[in-house]
Amino acid sequence: MAVMDALRQDRGMTWWKSSVVYQIYPRSFADSDGDGIGDVRGIIDHLDHLSALGVDVLWLSPIYRSPQDDNGYDISDYTDIDPLFGTLADVDELIAALHQRGMKLVMDLVVNHTSDEHQWFIDSRDPASDKRDWYVWRPAREGFEPGAEGAEPTNWGSYFTGSAWQYDEASGEYYLHLFSRKQPDLNWENPSVRQAVYAMMNWWVERGVDGFRMDVINLISKTLPLVDGEPTPGLGGLCYDPGMVANGPRLEEFLKEMNAAVGLSQRQLFTVGEMLAVDVDHARRYTSFEADELGMVFTFEHMSLDQQPGVSKFFLAPLHLPDLKANLALWQYGLADDGWNSLYWNNHDQPRVVSRFGDDSDEFRVTSAKTLGTVLHMLRGTPYVYQGEELGMTNAGYTEAEQYADIESVNFYRLATAAGLPVEAVLTGLAAKSRDNARTPVQWTEGPNAGFTSGRPWLPVNANHVTINADAARADAGSVFHHYRRLIGLRHDHEVVREGRFELLLPDHEQIFAYTRTLGDQVLVTVANMSSHEVRLQPGDVPDVTGAEVLIATHEQPTVDVLRPWESAVYLVGS
Ligand code: NOJ
Repeated sequence: MAVMDALRQDRGMTWWKSSVVYQIYPRSFADSDGDGIGDVRGIIDHLDHLSALGVDVLWLSPIYRSPQDDNGYDISDYTDIDPLFGTLADVDELIAALHQRGMKLVMDLVVNHTSDEHQWFIDSRDPASDKRDWYVWRPAREGFEPGAEGAEPTNWGSYFTGSAWQYDEASGEYYLHLFSRKQPDLNWENPSVRQAVYAMMNWWVERGVDGFRMDVINLISKTLPLVDGEPTPGLGGLCYDPGMVANGPRLEEFLKEMNAAVGLSQRQLFTVGEMLAVDVDHARRYTSFEADELGMVFTFEHMSLDQQPGVSKFFLAPLHLPDLKANLALWQYGLADDGWNSLYWNNHDQPRVVSRFGDDSDEFRVTSAKTLGTVLHMLRGTPYVYQGEELGMTNAGYTEAEQYADIESVNFYRLATAAGLPVEAVLTGLAAKSRDNARTPVQWTEGPNAGFTSGRPWLPVNANHVTINADAARADAGSVFHHYRRLIGLRHDHEVVREGRFELLLPDHEQIFAYTRTLGDQVLVTVANMSSHEVRLQPGDVPDVTGAEVLIATHEQPTVDVLRPWESAVYLVGS
């Protein structure tokens, strides 16, 4: 295996292993035309920022034509751009501009479901149409009147709350939607569906895109027949167990078929599969070099450590640092010899990491953001930076239900308060976990609307943009931005950062995150205080770093005896 890996590496077939990806959520990135919504031209106008940061790949959340029920993850035309975001010509210009700068473009591929306004689904509503079988239609539960309460074919809950089945009066049947009712699931069992998806992917590759981030891709193969699951406590008798719908029996067959039909491996295209309920063993199989399925996957395991087990993410629990370290280490060890990791703290679905696992007070925001960046970027895998993370942007700070726009948050508020949960507890859950935390506009300047738009932003700009903004960050050598820029540079410059073997130190320590990466006689030592208190280490807790080169640090003259709050440093031992 290692030989195969080395061979492919030699042939440059794994260029993405030394890359850092920057994710753009176009709606919130930069608005060029004053309608309050970010657009492709806004991205083109800000490419200097990305070049200065040094990222290699841009991943764009969906910009395709869409009714925007789930902000573009509900696509009604895969080969057109929504007028909100611009035109195909704008995308061609973006691709050319990126390629000219030596950067690549990765598009979001959302093919577990389409919009209910996609022509395929419009046709599918007619039981006589040859598209009927393109989606997952089922009759009412046996013994129930179609449309009656409890008549849904299974007890599955949609991830956005409520039943995963929508009754269609005209045909007397139900269609499956694991997300909103405007996002019907495609039926991947039907070969015509699969061929249509591959043709669309090829169309984008021919247009110049360099790969795909695949939305909830391990939901495409469902275990048949579809049957009831164990209800999740307190959620109206519905089953929200992703194990019921994820990693189905034909998943690897579909992924291999897609890989071959689009030439994903052969054309050295970048692929990352977003996967619910994926564990290390699955990931090793899906990302093995011998598999020709995916380059890497996104796991959710480390994102569920600050919630109560078995219930929705809005039921909070404090993060216990040893759990986080254990989980990250499990993935580092598990994919050390075969497969590949993606590394992320943030994306458009997660709250801001500095507010979540760091300390976003005035005193520690900058240092904790830097340290969180360090402990992630020094791991083995491909790191992702989500827009604004490089500025240390914080959560939205909403206190009222009316401030939320996201469909998941709005639905949860409605359902939870109707079920009698105290409003205060619901708002606390939303403030910590709502996806809107990631979606407030990028803070470019201290000026009106943070320089995001000349109009009225679709989601209010965070008031802290007067101090936290890209202009200020770029001008300040001690900013989070320049720290991230250096971290990205370290990956490019040091093979030990890309390839070194990982070992976790002090697994049970409640404040310190420390690990080594070893390649030949080089040892990279990362030591980080992940708390807002000073921490004293004992001699021998971490390897001797006397005389070692300090590659990056939060403070001048770092030591490993007494670590100041959120202090971290990376040492290179050996030549
Ligand atoms: C995962 C995406 O990241 C999320 O934003 C979206 O709502 C769901 N998939 C449905 O497409």
